[in-house]
Amino acid sequence: EKGGYDYFMLKEIAEQPKAVADTLLGRIDGAGSLTLDEVRIPANVLREIDKVVVIACGTAFHAGLIAKYAIEHWTRLPCEVELASEFRYRDPILDQQTLVIAISQSGETMDTLMALRHAREQGAHVLAICNTNGSTIPRESDAVLYTHAGPEVAVASTKAFLTQLVACYLVALYLGQVRGTKWADEIRAVVRDLSSIAGAVDRVLETMEPVRELARSLAGKNTVLFLGRHVGYPVALEGALKLKELAYMHAEGFAAGELKHGPIALIEDDLPVVVVVPSPRGRSVLHDKIVSNIQEIRARGARTIVIAEEGDEAVAEYADHLIRVPVTPTLLQPLVATVPLQVFACELATARGNEVDQPRNLAKSVTVE
Ligand code: M6R
Repeated sequence: EKGGYDYFMLKEIAEQPKAVADTLLGRIDGAGSLTLDEVRIPANVLREIDKVVVIACGTAFHAGLIAKYAIEHWTRLPCEVELASEFRYRDPILDQQTLVIAISQSGETMDTLMALRHAREQGAHVLAICNTNGSTIPRESDAVLYTHAGPEVAVASTKAFLTQLVACYLVALYLGQVRGTKWADEIRAVVRDLSSIAGAVDRVLETMEPVRELARSLAGKNTVLFLGRHVGYPVALEGALKLKELAYMHAEGFAAGELKHGPIALIEDDLPVVVVVPSPRGRSVLHDKIVSNIQEIRARGARTIVIAEEGDEAVAEYADHLIRVPVTPTLLQPLVATVPLQVFACELATARGNEVDQPRNLAKSVTVE
């Protein structure tokens, strides 16, 4: 049942192009517009929404952090993202004009379920993004957009995460489409880009051998840091979470701009630091800033592991290890940039002799608060 792979996690990493394509299937028409009939919240209600709140835990929370960039950009609606376990207990401000998006692979996570019940009691509209048909979270929501990742067995979430991202982009683009924003042309273009994104994920998977080699060489390290800016920041958080849960290593993700406010003190000789570099096209100011972050940490002895777009030559000279990902629109980059981090964590866990599919102390679905 592992399809020839040693671990479910490896199989699930390899299934990502299909999972992404399946999640898009039937939701995009040839003209570049979205048909999300499943989102049963009527268009007139969606037009009245004045705030979006995303609630989730763990990896699904990281998908939510990325959703915020997409939702705010394409809909111009304010969007908050909160850990479900915190949200419920701080008396959040919610009403009939709030759209709450609950993201959960299993659909059974108790923290997320309690948060969504609270949101519905306050009159908010709840849309679930979920991978498990008929599970509790979609049953208790007003509407559901299923991710079509197929069953995810490994405790560490991989293909479900990528499909959560796809679903989040679809919701953001759909809200933009329904509400009509100045980004109509861009929305159509991104919908077209999404159609080819599964191929890009596939290309990343074909080039992972150097990443595995690198991971094995770092098996004796105690700490790895991850840096990113913009949507690369949640990717850094996700890379760090994967490493914690699988390799049992101290790993932390930071917004690269925060380095100088404290974390740079952690940099010491030969400390591995993974940096997710945004595209040099589009928001090039972000790119310039991260290049100087890489220079700063390298000058202090860090071993830089740089994830950068194909053709981005400016970063090459500061990278001790360079991992290339295909060119994508800025907001979609997490779909390709996360994959090397999954492979990296899985290989490190194996090299350290850890149980990949069943990491210690963890369960696939957390049904207690
Ligand atoms: O089933 P859910 O998506 O609600 O699960 C949320 C988290 O428990 C989950 O993402 C967890 O962080 C994973 N083990 C991460 O790999």
